[in-house]
Amino acid sequence: MYNNFNLSKKSFEILKRDSISLSRSMTREYPLVYKKAKGAYIWDIDNKKYLDFCAGVAVMNIGHTNKEVVKSIKKQLDYGLHCAFPDFYAELPVKYVETVKAFLPKKFNQAFLSNSGTETIETAYKMARWHTNKKWVIAFDHCFHGRTMGSLSMTNSKPVQRERFGPFLPVKHAPYAYVYRHPSNDEKECVNDCLSKLEQKARSVKNNLAAVFIEPIQGEGGYIVPPKDFIKGVREICNKYNALMCDDEVQSGCFRTGKFFV
Ligand SMILES: Cc1ncc(COP(=O)(O)O)c(C=O)c1O
Repeated sequence: MYNNFNLSKKSFEILKRDSISLSRSMTREYPLVYKKAKGAYIWDIDNKKYLDFCAGVAVMNIGHTNKEVVKSIKKQLDYGLHCAFPDFYAELPVKYVETVKAFLPKKFNQAFLSNSGTETIETAYKMARWHTNKKWVIAFDHCFHGRTMGSLSMTNSKPVQRERFGPFLPVKHAPYAYVYRHPSNDEKECVNDCLSKLEQKARSVKNNLAAVFIEPIQGEGGYIVPPKDFIKGVREICNKYNALMCDDEVQSGCFRTGKFFV
């Protein structure tokens, strides 16, 4: 493995120790051995500097080791690391959500705090099933929603991510409106075709559609920006089939496109 890479002795040793002590069920993209990061740069174990286009899987949108963020984390360490928030209350999470709410439309009035993207999707999935009391979910071809069982049942970007983990939860996949790859190459035809296939899937589960999960811009699937009419059409189909529309903005949100949400 990684035979084609000119790995330094130090990197090679860490990769070897990693393969002995860490689960091999986790696939990696590239044999970079991280040492530190600052702003838009990252350094490997041999102090080689890289301009970091990965940006912590696209989430370090205010830069690595941002001064204000580091200062706040250090300050919190003096107050403790775990306040058992699922059991008790604290002011900081309330203040945090109040601050985030200022960027959201008024009707989004409550938040559920979680630790990662996949945990957020699991929560949305459970909430959708609980509130609708329905079973099926539709996600899109090439989507990425995470790697735990619920989110992985939707994730469909690379076969290696699903290999050996099935059977999955009840999820159907519909085509995402990618005009460039659509046989027609035409925006309107692509949108109509994808929406009609989505509706076929919605109909096929016979009043049992809990939710449609969608990235408004697909990330892992190849940074695909669909036509606006596609998103509007998905909303209409959700309304028609009494299903929730779950908007996954793990990659597109928080001002990465200039707006808080796409
Ligand atoms: C759109 C999207 N949703 C969910 C996730 C999962 O996030 P996490 O890796 O924090 O579990 C990702 C991660 O890349 C993502 O791109």
